[in-house]
Amino acid sequence: MHLHGNRLSLTLALTTYSAPIWDETRDALCCLLKERVPDLAEVDITMAVHERIPASLGQVGLRAKSVIVVGSGKGGVGKSTIAASLAIGLKNAGCQVGLMDADVYGPSIPHLLGASGRPEITEKQTGTDEAGTPVIARSIAPITADGMKVISIGFLVPADKAVIWRGPMLHGSIIGFLRDTDWGNLDYLIIDMPPGTGDVALTLSQALPLTGAVIVCTPQDVALLDAVKAINMFKEVGISILGLVENMSYFLCPDNGKRYDIFGTGGAKRKAEEFGIPCLGEVPINMQVRINGDQGSTAANFADPSTAKPFEEICRNLVKNLAARHVEEPPLPSLSVL
Ligand SMILES: Nc1ncnc2c1ncn2[C@@H]1O[C@H](COP(=O)(O)OP(=O)(O)OP(=O)(O)O)[C@@H](O)[C@H]1O
Ligand SMILES: [Mg+2]
Repeated sequence: MHLHGNRLSLTLALTTYSAPIWDETRDALCCLLKERVPDLAEVDITMAVHERIPASLGQVGLRAKSVIVVGSGKGGVGKSTIAASLAIGLKNAGCQVGLMDADVYGPSIPHLLGASGRPEITEKQTGTDEAGTPVIARSIAPITADGMKVISIGFLVPADKAVIWRGPMLHGSIIGFLRDTDWGNLDYLIIDMPPGTGDVALTLSQALPLTGAVIVCTPQDVALLDAVKAINMFKEVGISILGLVENMSYFLCPDNGKRYDIFGTGGAKRKAEEFGIPCLGEVPINMQVRINGDQGSTAANFADPSTAKPFEEICRNLVKNLAARHVEEPPLPSLSVL
């Protein structure tokens, strides 16, 4: 920190975990300094990265600062689109992000990202157990797409082949993806959940401490009822709710700019208030979002400000809420004034 007359310059080092809120944190600090020290004519804040390695989580040993599941009670409401966009938005802001497709029966992440390839699986004997049986460690090299490490059963099974698995196989594949994938050090692992049942949520909650769930719903009553079911299901398996996202909130007609509330409006906000959970944002129905998804270019949702804005806002709100939570619980977001 240097003070030259009435000009202050300092370096603010924050972790990449909070990258989506760096700008507003810098601006808030600048305002606070000017408010507290009225004589300051200029405050120049340089941002820098403060390195903090994530701890390894649970029995699977995943190294991530936050593991966030994206779920809903109802199919087709846009979970995968929101999960992929959340991951891309966080990555674009500067976070280290992994994306895991936990929808084993209907994986859509590879398609939404236009990602293909076969993850390389290597096995190595690491020793023997007490009975003399070889202990094998497996390592899965994830597919890199849009600068993120991505894993999905869709990379391992042909797109037109149905996966017919019993519960234990489903459980095994989810644990395997978490434990064996070479994720490296992540700020966020975003997990796209399958619709409906609690099997995968239960498996995940037993395998590692999850940061929480983002629930996606549409504004109409029937979808909100299912969202409530999803909230209760996650709570029952001990996963806290980070917030609701209202998808397909409204439609802005490109011809006349008129807004149509096709599925009603504001339902998620009201439900969130009722349950005392945050509403993270509203995403309108946008033909380009659907086209980008179909074309495997979900990242292009961020190319145009009109499609990017709602997704970026959801990322910022999520990170802001997590940072607020960390104020209460250590470790504090690392902040050092040099
Ligand atoms: N805001 C939006 N505007 C336009 N189309 C959207 C929007 N959100 C999602 N879609 C489209 O709706 C369809 C369903 O979305 P998505 O696959 O993300 O839903 P899902 O909840 O994951 O479905 P499932 O329950 O089958 O896993 C996709 O074609 C997607 O492109
Ligand atoms: Mg899906």
